[in-house]
Order: sequence, then C-alpha cells, then structure tokens
Amino acid sequence: MLATSFPKTGFPLTAVFAIMLGDSMLARVGITGPAHGFVKSYRRDPAGTVLFQTEALKKLWMQGPMLYLPSAGFSPCSRLYCADPQGAGARRVPGAGFPLFPWGPDSAYRCATSPMGRLAMPPAYNPGSLMRYRIPFNRPGLTGNELRYVADAITQGHAAGDGTFTRRCHSMLEQTLGVPRVLLTTSCTHALEMAALLLDFKPGDEVILPSFTFVSTANAFVLRGAKPVFVDIRSDTLNLDESRLEELITPRTKAIVPVHYAGVGCEMDAILDIAGRHGVTVVEDNAHGLFARYKGRYLGTFGAIATQSFHETKNVICGEGGAIVLNDPALVERAEILREKGTNRSKFFRGQVDKYTWVDIGSSYLLSDILAAFLCAQLERYDQIAATRKRIWECYNRELAGWAAAQDVQLPCVPPHCEQAYHMFYLVMPSLQARQGLIEHLKSQGILSVFHYIPLHLSRMGVEFGGQPGQCPTTERVGDCLLRLPFYNDLSGAEQAEVVDVVRQFECRATVSR
Ligand SMILES: Cc1ncc(COP(=O)(O)O)c(C=O)c1O
Repeated sequence: MLATSFPKTGFPLTAVFAIMLGDSMLARVGITGPAHGFVKSYRRDPAGTVLFQTEALKKLWMQGPMLYLPSAGFSPCSRLYCADPQGAGARRVPGAGFPLFPWGPDSAYRCATSPMGRLAMPPAYNPGSLMRYRIPFNRPGLTGNELRYVADAITQGHAAGDGTFTRRCHSMLEQTLGVPRVLLTTSCTHALEMAALLLDFKPGDEVILPSFTFVSTANAFVLRGAKPVFVDIRSDTLNLDESRLEELITPRTKAIVPVHYAGVGCEMDAILDIAGRHGVTVVEDNAHGLFARYKGRYLGTFGAIATQSFHETKNVICGEGGAIVLNDPALVERAEILREKGTNRSKFFRGQVDKYTWVDIGSSYLLSDILAAFLCAQLERYDQIAATRKRIWECYNRELAGWAAAQDVQLPCVPPHCEQAYHMFYLVMPSLQARQGLIEHLKSQGILSVFHYIPLHLSRMGVEFGGQPGQCPTTERVGDCLLRLPFYNDLSGAEQAEVVDVVRQFECRATVSR
C-alpha cells in the first residue's frame, strides 16, 4: 500500500474503502458530481468484502461529488465500510452517520437512509466552491426504485427519449393533472423555449413576467427576439402582482408568464381574466409548483401552456429535467415536432406515418429514458415525498414563528385558497445586512442557506431592456432580503432542529447596529 499522505489533512493514502455487498451484486462504484468517473480497481478480501484504493476516489471527491452505487439491486442491508487508516483491514462504522475518511474538523459525513440501504454521502458542497457544509441547502434524494429503474431503462434496450419510462411519466402526469398532453423535456428552461416557439414569438413581441424569477423565464422568449416587460411582485406571496398587469399590456403583448413562487399559486382568476380580455396567452412557469393547487385546481392547468422542472433542487427530481404541459390540444402536434428536432418522428414511432422527415423548426428537447426512469420512480412515490416535505415545512413554520415575529422577519404566506407544493422555506429578513448576517451565522455552524433571484430588471440584460432601479420596489427589497433554509427530502429531524436552533440564536438588531 502507498504510504504518502493526503495533502490537506495529512491523512495517509493507505486508507481503503470497502463496500460490503451481496457477493455478485457489486458492479462498480461510480462517482457523480462535477467530476464523473468510475473506480476500476478493487480487490476482495477473503470474506468477500470489496476494498477500494482511495486515490482515485479522493481525486474525484476533492471536487465535491457524491459516491453512488449504480449496480442494480444491491441488497437492502448494504453498508459502506471504511477501512482502518493504517490498512489493518475493513472495519464497520456503525450508526446512521459515520465518517468515511477524515476531511477536516467538519467532516461529519452523513448517510441518506433510503429503502435501498444507506448510500454514503460526502460532505455537501456548494457548487462552484470547495467549502463543505455539514447541512447543505439541498441534497438530491432517493425514494427506492430509482437505480433499479435506471438499470432497467438500459437493459431493456431503449435509453434514448420516449421509451417506456417516458411514457409512464407522461401518463402519470396527464392523469393526475387531467390535461390533454404532457411531454418530458430536458429542463424547464427548454420547456419554456418550446412555449416561445409554439406561440410563434417574433422580434418585437412582448412578454410580461415577474422580475423576481429565474433567468430562463425571460431568456426563453428573448431568444426569439421578444422584449421582456417586468412586473413587480406582491409583498405577501411574492408572486406577480396582478393589479399591475393591465398597465403593462400593449398591442405587442403576446403572453403573460406567471411564476408560482415557492409553489404557491398566483392569483389565476384575475390573471386569466386580464389575459382573456386582451387576447394574451398565459404560460405558467410552474417550476416550483408541481401538484400544488389554486382554488382546488392544479397549478399548471390554467394557462394554454405550463412548464415544470425536475432539476435536483425541486420536489421531484431526475437531476436535470422538465416537462411542457399542453392544456390546449391544438398545440400538441406541433409541440411533438418542435421537441423532436423539427421532425414528425413521434408520429412515425406511433405508426401514423411510414417514415419521418423534417417538417418544421425544432430542437432536441426530449429527455433520455434513463432520466425518465429515475423520474418515474420519484413520481410513483410522490405521496411519500409530499408528506415528508409538508412535515419539514410545517416544522420550520411552527418553530420559527416566535423568533420571526420578534425579529421582524416575514415567513412564507400561503393564502387559504392555495394548497402549496411545500417546495421551499424562505425568510424575508428586515434588511440586506440582516440577510447576509444570518447566512454568515449559519455558515459558521456548517449550515448552507442561500439567497434567491437577483431582480431581472436590474441585471445586465435587464438594464439593456430598460430596467431601472425603483421600477419593481418589492422585487428589489425581496431580492436583497430573502434567504432560503436547507430543505430536502432526506433532511433529518436532528438536522432540522439544529438549523432551527442556529437561526433562533440570530438577532437582526445586532447586524443593524454594526
Ligand atoms: C421559476 C423558475 N423557472 C425556471 C427554472 C429553470 O428550471 P430548469 O433548471 O429545469 O431549467 C427555474 C430554476 O430553478 C425556476 O426557479
């Protein structure tokens, strides 16, 4: 064994990882994250324990990836073993959380518990930084069947788009939402781009959207030459302020794009009324709000088109992914063509034409069936995800209510006619200094909290479109003051209690007087 030492910690490189699996079950250990790779060399000890040399693992791990076990069907009692640093042999590290190898004082590596066993997690990382957090802001989770379905997608011989798993996702979403057609896409961004193509956006057309949103809500339309017109948000739900819409509509307005922030519905009655009177199409950006409802009706079923995200930070995930929801049946045929590189391949696959050809503009917007397989497993367990997230959200809301009132902090507002998606838990702090102060305070305890959108009208692109300070005052304040707390399906009760405790220690006044 090598006896050199690990540069940052002085930890000897003789450490090995061992993964105890059923004898024939280990296919390989994969590393995912910013660096991808497989650890190819391993050996078995006489007891059948698989031992990995860690050099390769460490090299990749340094960049903050996650260890995962893609072999189909490893046993429910699989455990990650950590070899004795001196190479004396594999030793089982008991308990739910265990160190895999020492990283530094904060290296409390945690395990995610899943029905498949425990997958070892390296310390969470903030993409783009090497800073590790004991409690990350987000951590993608498993509900049980994801890895098996991914393996099935490959072994059954159709890993490209529109295979069995894509069809299963389509029908689950269509049946639950009660809509004519849902098509999986590579992202919500691409679903929005498809919406702009479907509506034939041309240079000079205008689209009204909140300034407090993700860049893709605007960019998808700007890509077609459209001008984004930014509307401010309401100070309660942080959703587009419907009372400001009408003054922004011009003869060039082609669409309004409400964003259901945090999965709480926009005031759809008023928005649909205004849009209807002016002959403007509504496209719902429902990236946060899958299966949430407004007045009993699912978000994403109000506009002619809606878009969903299955990015790793969302409630239901597949890493990167999305969907376009088509509520107007007249849009379905062209949507299928735009999504399939401008060809009528979807019709060909259904046997409706004997060959397929180039019939329109388009791009490659369909999701691989490998990712659809992952998504399918998550959608099938949606009830479990929803119950977990509801519990986490309600715990934050209950436990932080007193502190928030005393500190003049705004907690999320969910109007009684909205059933929310429990997508995030945010705090609107009384000032930018208080927001930054709390982020730093949490960080000092190894907890990552993050701000959210920078107002689009004040971004470099937004200013090019005429955006000016003061144009959307609520957006500007919330852009400065909002902070999101760790929120993911595997957030444990102990982790959440710790976040709550650390938040409660924070006094806004201390930052104001500085
Ligand atoms: C409101 C909103 N729309 C669109 C997107 C883009 O989603 P995706 O990453 O799936 O492209 C996001 C991303 O978080 C978002 O917050």
